[in-house]
Amino acid sequence: MSAMIELEKLGKRYPGQATPAVDALDLSIPEGEIVILVGPSGCGKTTTLKMINRIIEPTSGTIRLQGEDVTRADPDQLRRRIGYVIQQVGLFPHQTIGRNITTVPRLLGWPRKRIEERLDELLHLVGMDPATYRDRFPKQLSGGQRQRIGVARALAADPPVMLMDEPFGALDPISRDRLQNEFLRLQQEIRKTIVFVTHDIDEAVKMGDRIAILREGSAVAQYDTPEAVLAAPADDFVREFIGSGAVLKRLGLTRVRDVGLAPWPTSAIGEGREAAVRAAASSDHGCLLLLDDRRRPLRWVQARELGDPGYSLDRRGLEVRNTVGPDATLAAALEALLAGRSGAVAVVDDAGALLGVVNLDTLMSAVDAAHDGRPVDRRATDDELAAR
Ligand SMILES: Nc1ncnc2c1ncn2[C@@H]1O[C@H](COP(=O)(O)OP(=O)(O)O)[C@@H](O)[C@H]1O
Ligand SMILES: [Mg+2]
Repeated sequence: MSAMIELEKLGKRYPGQATPAVDALDLSIPEGEIVILVGPSGCGKTTTLKMINRIIEPTSGTIRLQGEDVTRADPDQLRRRIGYVIQQVGLFPHQTIGRNITTVPRLLGWPRKRIEERLDELLHLVGMDPATYRDRFPKQLSGGQRQRIGVARALAADPPVMLMDEPFGALDPISRDRLQNEFLRLQQEIRKTIVFVTHDIDEAVKMGDRIAILREGSAVAQYDTPEAVLAAPADDFVREFIGSGAVLKRLGLTRVRDVGLAPWPTSAIGEGREAAVRAAASSDHGCLLLLDDRRRPLRWVQARELGDPGYSLDRRGLEVRNTVGPDATLAAALEALLAGRSGAVAVVDDAGALLGVVNLDTLMSAVDAAHDGRPVDRRATDDELAAR
């Protein structure tokens, strides 16, 4: 994919400061991707972001947007192509949500009807009912809702590029997680080129198509996919920044649908004990998954628990308590696996029907694949999904 933004030797030096805030940064940001700038506090992330839309003027280097040198272009023109979301949201407190969101379209002189349609569309897009929220004021909203409004406002004039500076930093962990998930879903729809700043490596790994790990002066320590960074940190600085738990982080990156599901012996409960015994004998798992007549998992049953014809099948073995869907992360699958006693977790479709299982072997090979530098593709296409 072509680069949407190219930074070449970009720098910011403040007079009287011994070290530059940003020193000769080279970075190429592909169209339609979320690129995360992550690094310790004070390393130059905010300065870099503000230079891209020229709130801060660079003292050296070049910024190219869609191939065009915009380092010295008219900043107002430039900002129409770039939406900006800052941590403190910065909504105008005395203006309604509607007026806040439509600031840029009004500045651009859009006709009233178009502005109103766009407002409703944006509120829907960020999951807020237009009739309920349009005329409210910022202080009547929760932190998470204000953050959604900040995103809607940045998207108002449909810019190809979004800059986001620690957009979820001020939220509690639960709202934060929810907004991150919502935003990833939204991005599937809008496919903007996004430069996203955070100091939180977990957020970087979760949100980024690519992450740039920055050290002082916005020097790039490593720029790669989250999988590659976690599997092969470039140096000690990156290793230390990632911290412990790299394997678990990696399991959080891969979806169940992206790994080969293990087959498992099954039998429909309606087919009776004999069929179940035969199914159990046909595999060396020693454990059978009993299904209902719509292939929904009911019970894990050991082969030896099938022996006694005396009592009915639906009381043998262990009830299936945890299942996961194809969208679950391997970390969630591991948790479900550890919560049960069967050594495997059933993967089911939307209707609850069995697709296969994830067991420890599946998880280990996903981790090994990443070790070998063969990152498991976490963006399987619908066609690939259908073929599985
Ligand atoms: N107006 C300024 N004058 C002098 N130094 C500044 C100014 N703004 C930022 N800096 C310095 O530039 C460095 C990078 O700051 P910043 O981009 O805000 O870092 P980050 O967002 O990664 O925490 C810091 O060391 C900061 O002290
Ligand atoms: Mg900052």
